[in-house]
Amino acid sequence: AFNLRNRSFLTLADFNTREMEYMLDLAEDLKKAKYAGTEQQHLKGKNIALIFEKSSTRTRCSFEVGAKDQGAHVTYLGPSGSHIGHKESVKDTARVLGGMFDGIEYRGFSQRNVEILAEYSGVPVWNGLTDEDHPTQVLADFLTAHEVLKKPYQQIKFAFVGDGRDNVSNALMLGAAVMGMEYHVVTPKELEPEAETLAKANEIAAKTGAKIVVTNDVKAGVKGMDVIYADVWVSMGESDDMWAKRIELLKPYQVTKEVMEATENPKAIFEHCLPAFHNTETEVGKEIAEKFGLTEMEVTDEVFESEQSVVFREAENRMHTIKAVMVATLGD
Ligand code: CP
Ligand code: NVA
Repeated sequence: AFNLRNRSFLTLADFNTREMEYMLDLAEDLKKAKYAGTEQQHLKGKNIALIFEKSSTRTRCSFEVGAKDQGAHVTYLGPSGSHIGHKESVKDTARVLGGMFDGIEYRGFSQRNVEILAEYSGVPVWNGLTDEDHPTQVLADFLTAHEVLKKPYQQIKFAFVGDGRDNVSNALMLGAAVMGMEYHVVTPKELEPEAETLAKANEIAAKTGAKIVVTNDVKAGVKGMDVIYADVWVSMGESDDMWAKRIELLKPYQVTKEVMEATENPKAIFEHCLPAFHNTETEVGKEIAEKFGLTEMEVTDEVFESEQSVVFREAENRMHTIKAVMVATLGD
């Protein structure tokens, strides 16, 4: 037997197939138990710090609700109001928080910061998103596909369509490699994944039988796929000056009805980590629409609102999967 107790959750590349499947299965069990009203608490009396240097709706709420359901207490440290990164180094912060908390979530900019926290706090650290990675997201994405498609993980074929250097795409690629899945990155030449990330995924894939494909051809890239995945074209932490260039590069990679049809798979589903840019009901949406004349970005409203779209089930599954990560690494 194995257990994940006291392990940090920094990137999926740190886990093997069995360990990742264990977290996914645990999430499924915890979800069933919550629905049935039979959930047992494994985090009673634990104190958890939530560090957010970037905004969040899903990730923060998932950690808060997941912790509460399991009997733990959380302390939220937002982008302002603490000394982290301004007046106190991440290394010092790690040693301070490690003395008070049993687990720490971190969302921020560099992946290095989450590694430093894990190294110096002495408690499990969970990556809630960095510029490079978003591992908790992937557990929810895989669980959702597994629930809806009713297929074993190894048989699910994912195509990410958009910015091939996106943190979510990186995380999905590593997760797919660990789980032995087929994963396509459908992206323009200029935005193909960093050589280092791709090499890491291929190294894992060589052991698990996963297949990682990078292509610039949308039609060929989505053909036969089960899941079409999109994310924003400009991520948190990137400059607003990027919009013009990204729109130019990624307009041909917008997920439209035609793209969904090009899967030639009537059962194909659409996933998105959210928040999504599919209309002009938001402040940012209005601004971009005015500036560039586009009212939809990475996905059309038609696809987002279609029967094939499972994005809100996916959002709920963030909570069940994040709860599973906390229970697996910190639970009694
Ligand atoms: N998908 C995701 O991480 O959402 P939030 O930014 O709202 O946490
Ligand atoms: N790539 C996006 C994901 C948000 C959940 C970002 O980093 O802003």
